[in-house]
Amino acid sequence: MDNFKFYSPTYFAFGKGEENNTGELVKRFGGKKALIHYGGGSAVKSGLIGRVKDSLEKAGIAYEELGGVKPNPRSGLVYEGIDLCRKEGIDFIVAVGGGSVIDSAKAIAAGTVYDGDFWDFYSGKRIEKALPVGTVLTIAAAGSEGSGDSVITNENGMFKRGASGDAIRPAFSILNPELTTTLPAYQTACGITDIMAHLMERYLTNTKDVVTTDRMIEGLMLAMIEEGPKVIKNLTDYDTRANIMWAGMMAHNNSCGVGRSQDWNSHNIEHELSTYYDCAHGAGLAVTFPAYLSYVYKHDLDRLSQWAVRVWGVEDNGDKEAMILEAIERYKAFLKEIGMPLTLSELGGKEEDIDTLARMACRGDGRDGNLYGFVKLSEDEVKDVYRKML
Ligand code: NZQ
Ligand code: ZN
Repeated sequence: MDNFKFYSPTYFAFGKGEENNTGELVKRFGGKKALIHYGGGSAVKSGLIGRVKDSLEKAGIAYEELGGVKPNPRSGLVYEGIDLCRKEGIDFIVAVGGGSVIDSAKAIAAGTVYDGDFWDFYSGKRIEKALPVGTVLTIAAAGSEGSGDSVITNENGMFKRGASGDAIRPAFSILNPELTTTLPAYQTACGITDIMAHLMERYLTNTKDVVTTDRMIEGLMLAMIEEGPKVIKNLTDYDTRANIMWAGMMAHNNSCGVGRSQDWNSHNIEHELSTYYDCAHGAGLAVTFPAYLSYVYKHDLDRLSQWAVRVWGVEDNGDKEAMILEAIERYKAFLKEIGMPLTLSELGGKEEDIDTLARMACRGDGRDGNLYGFVKLSEDEVKDVYRKML
């Protein structure tokens, strides 16, 4: 196992009605004037924003509002948020929504206290300082409620990049599984696919002897394989939603990723799909991950055949390649069962887009023409991965 430092200071409040304590938590973590940041309207329609406001008022916290975050959040609204926070003297950001809202809130939080352009952080500069962010999560998916990451689409060129730093780990996150019961089946499945992908990106490691984290990842994947189809059949089941919600946090706050190298090639390849076709990140991952695995599996037959046996229940017959290919087929069948697309054309993609997608993924803003992870991929190899999705 590699050496590591792990700082995960987020306070989690999990369960029914916890959103009514938002104001108390803002106060507890030092906020006096908050920005409530939210998305396209689901949280307004459900009455959640109203409850969050009531809770802030009860706790004596002043607030401003900024809604309109789009899925795959855009840089334009981040600039607007930074201006608003500076003008209004905001000292705390409350993100009410999913990964897109939380990531936009994190970008605003870092940008408000930074002298330069916030995009510097999305071109490789680490985030060392930010306003505190609290979250009220409405979808189990991105894991941003516990992560030190944020992903934003730059509207000047339309490409997606991530930024990181412990300073943007949320001060608190409220996880009420009931809030996720209004999600349609498709969006729910996108979330499950993203959770599986976050686990898989960590499973694809070149570090040896990482039994503890291997077993944690396998356990969480097995839970998703059990709970995924169940929730699609019964979208309002509290306990299934609760299990998925906590798995989403565990999959990405890096408890399962410490002490081991990680991959993230699939995420980098996918990010250009959700940017170019404006599809959900999870749907892009459903198309990307099986294609990527079938391209790279020979890099470590032992690791991938272990995954085949332990996670997908493939019989160990000694033919590792065949076992892995069978596991990839079972992964695809699982994704199909929960309603995910499996090909580029289902996202609206065409073969002639591939050169552009590979260029967006491999060049500019901190990229040198290659992707580095479980394996190193040149731009031409990235094109081959995109071709496997056709
Ligand atoms: O905007 P509203 O109206 O709220 O609708 C949203 C949105 O259309 C809707 N929704 C959310 N909660 C709902 C609901 N609809 C009904 N009932 C509810 N309870 O769902 C749609 C998708 O929301 P979004 O926030 O985009 O989903 P998700 O959480 O999957 O976030 C995706 C974003 O996270 C980034 C992705 O790249 C993508 O931009 N990621 C962030 C990561 C991180 N910060 O650590 C890691 C991930 O790998 C990922 O890259
Ligand atoms: Zn993801």
